[in-house]
Amino acid sequence: MEILGCLDISTTWIMWIAVLFLIYAYGKKRNCLFKDVGIPGPEPVIYIGNFHQFVLKGPNNKDWEKYGKVFGIFIGGLPMITVTDPEIAREILIKDFQHFTDRTSIALDNYPVDKSILFEKGANWKRIRNIVTPTFSGSKLRLMCDRIDQCACTLTNNFVKAAESNQSIDVKRYFGAFTMDVISSTAFGIEVDSQSDSKNAFVDEAKKFFGEGIQNPLVMIVLIFPALTPLFRALGVSTFSPSTLKFFTKVLNEMIEQRKGDLKDGKMKRQDFFQLLMDAEDDGTGSHSESQRKKLTNDEIIGQALLFFIAGYETTANTLHFVAYALAKNPDVQKRLTEEVDSVLGDKNPDYDNIGELKYMDHVITETLRLYPAVTGISRYVAETVTIKGYTFPKDCAVHIPALPIHRDGDIYPDPESFKPDRWERKSEMDPMNYLPFGHGPRQCVGMRLAQVEMKMALARILKKIQFVATEDTLAYVGLDNVTVHTGILNTKKPIMLKTQVWSDK
Ligand code: HEM
Repeated sequence: MEILGCLDISTTWIMWIAVLFLIYAYGKKRNCLFKDVGIPGPEPVIYIGNFHQFVLKGPNNKDWEKYGKVFGIFIGGLPMITVTDPEIAREILIKDFQHFTDRTSIALDNYPVDKSILFEKGANWKRIRNIVTPTFSGSKLRLMCDRIDQCACTLTNNFVKAAESNQSIDVKRYFGAFTMDVISSTAFGIEVDSQSDSKNAFVDEAKKFFGEGIQNPLVMIVLIFPALTPLFRALGVSTFSPSTLKFFTKVLNEMIEQRKGDLKDGKMKRQDFFQLLMDAEDDGTGSHSESQRKKLTNDEIIGQALLFFIAGYETTANTLHFVAYALAKNPDVQKRLTEEVDSVLGDKNPDYDNIGELKYMDHVITETLRLYPAVTGISRYVAETVTIKGYTFPKDCAVHIPALPIHRDGDIYPDPESFKPDRWERKSEMDPMNYLPFGHGPRQCVGMRLAQVEMKMALARILKKIQFVATEDTLAYVGLDNVTVHTGILNTKKPIMLKTQVWSDK
């Protein structure tokens, strides 16, 4: 018995040691991927990879400079190649797009957002992108300008009230409420008026959308052990806030039913993104294959609508609040911009045509997005092993093209930390690959024109009335050491506080 007992214990031990060895050997082997193909990079820690160096440290990371313009890191179990070389970026984003069509995403239970073009893959992405792109055409955007202007008037009135109180304000809250109102009315035709009513359920849920993201311990486990993804998905683990996903799925389903009912009752069709998506709804009677379908399914309509809402809210508010900050810190730029608005618009209201003539405003926004790109990098997935300029990109890796270090590279932008809108006077001579706030190529931001129209309409309306002023509460500078990046969106660690002042000389 004793002998048998001994044997039992030692067999168990041997099995455990073998299992631990296999886990160790697998982790070590996984980490050799970049060494095997000759891509440089920091030594990864087994299973954690370089997570601690590149995710936890945030954007203020000198490691970017150490390894050159192409280097490999591991975010847990995800091998990721970082590229800052413009020629290679051009191959990935445009010329060799067929090998880099998709984004890398964590395939958890992200319904219905996983049906949106942000996450869809291959032929299905292309089909939906083709259906969705016309919803952002010039003629559609023109129709939305009146509603955007109404929201901009409310925003301006709120800034005037803030000026009367003479208090420093958190400008992001004001711009956040504005973009929320714009996207709610242009995407869904609903007036949430979050600029007056901050307790709106729609607004509260949208703000929670990104939740803990990558900081969620369950999501981190999946990053370290990607093989567990199907199990976690089956258990309902999501990268986004599950309550928000449920809330919007319910609201949007109800909205679809209500609009169908309205149509049957002979009511007029609305003019918003949601209606445009519904007009592209598939009744399921066609015999096309999945990738050939010319219409959207119910799930796809909800996925796109929700994505427009989320993508259109935070990014645009974020950029506008950085514009306000840059103007307050550079009063000469603010004065020149206001003079341009006054001379081009005169007494007219901002509209689709006259904002197109505001050249200096275009340079101010372009320069703001250079210094403070709301989305800090572009990601792609390597579908097939390919070699570009001598670098081998192994199949199944992620590619990351980071906007922040490129946008603040002194060799590309002399005096890179300074806010200089005039550097964009020769915009057409600049290499587009060195400027990435909206990405590039066929997968570029589909809402870019809407965002630009919305920002210009808002700034034109605001600057006719008020100016932004820096106070002792205002951050002295916004550099890589006082910003954070949460789910890819750039934010300052402390809010940007400014005063508003009604122009006295107008
Ligand atoms: C200043 C505001 C905005 C910025 C800085 C921004 C930035 C970006 C970036 C960097 C990408 C990735 C592009 C790439 O991978 O090449 C993207 C994708 C996307 N954006 Fe925007 N965005 C903004 C506003 C909007 C708005 C207003 C909407 C819609 C209402 C929108 C909808 C989307 C969608 C749907 C995608 C995915 C496109 C695809 O995969 O085909 N964005 N955006």
